[in-house]
Amino acid sequence: VLEHVVADLTCPHGEPSLRLVEGGLVCPSGHQFDVARQGYVNLLLGPAPAAADTAAMVSARERIQSAGHQGAITAALVAAVRAALPDGPQATIVDIGAGTGHHLAAVVEATGAPAGLAVDLSKHAARRAARAHPRVGAIVADVWRGVPVRDAAAAVVLVVFAPRDPVELTRILRPAGVLVAVTPTPRHLAPLVATLGLLQVDEDKTGTLDRAMSSVATLERRQVVEEVRELVHDEVAAIVAMGPSAHHLDPAASTPRWPRCPSGSPCVSR
Ligand SMILES: C[S@@+](CC[C@H](N)C(=O)[O-])C[C@H]1O[C@@H](n2cnc3c(N)ncnc32)[C@H](O)[C@@H]1O
Ligand SMILES: [Zn+2]
Repeated sequence: VLEHVVADLTCPHGEPSLRLVEGGLVCPSGHQFDVARQGYVNLLLGPAPAAADTAAMVSARERIQSAGHQGAITAALVAAVRAALPDGPQATIVDIGAGTGHHLAAVVEATGAPAGLAVDLSKHAARRAARAHPRVGAIVADVWRGVPVRDAAAAVVLVVFAPRDPVELTRILRPAGVLVAVTPTPRHLAPLVATLGLLQVDEDKTGTLDRAMSSVATLERRQVVEEVRELVHDEVAAIVAMGPSAHHLDPAASTPRWPRCPSGSPCVSR
């Protein structure tokens, strides 16, 4: 819920504070931002750029996550935060590009963090994240145009398969704060990538991450999380629909773009 995170937020026009009033948030200069019926607040100045996940992508992601297919990732996030902060986070956990808020809700719950803030460019994602956990609040913002969060407000910053601006990420972190970043390895979804011709993961994603972060953070530990999952047919479709390849699918096409399901039968429909 928004009350838990209002104190961490800044006005996107630059003022350092926002206050909750009837129906919205206001800054000292009088900029006002409406709280949506679904409980999130939109702090974007202008329309969302095309990179935002669509409603269909967000519900496909929810389908996959609620079936437990990303449970190993969630568990690794919880373990990483616990290892770094054995007494639990003493301030907000900020999740950048939080999507449905699935991982954030689990980490807030498991670590007893006082609050979680889900930041996403997509209002469809913010809508879901706003109800992911009683202590989680959600905002719509473009992290490439500055995260509307106070300096040093976060005990933990999570970035899971989402955009990373190293300077912004460390600005919002407390001095002893923890940044947990998850990137796909080249083996991520490999059987589907090979069979369906999905977008491939850049071979040196980890190297790119390390180079971007080395100027602002020290690497404490790295863990490879791998799990083989069995998918039913429409989960295959959901994986395609939630990922970057979905941006490249032609919504007008009536036949599937891929030749056949990896399970061997013609299954995928949209
Ligand atoms: C692959 S999804 C990952 C979602 C979530 N972290 C998870 O693992 O379930 C990437 C998310 O980043 C969001 N996103 C993309 N560009 C963004 C930006 N510039 N600022 C904030 N969020 C962004 C998308 O809307 C999407 O929800
Ligand atoms: Zn303002």
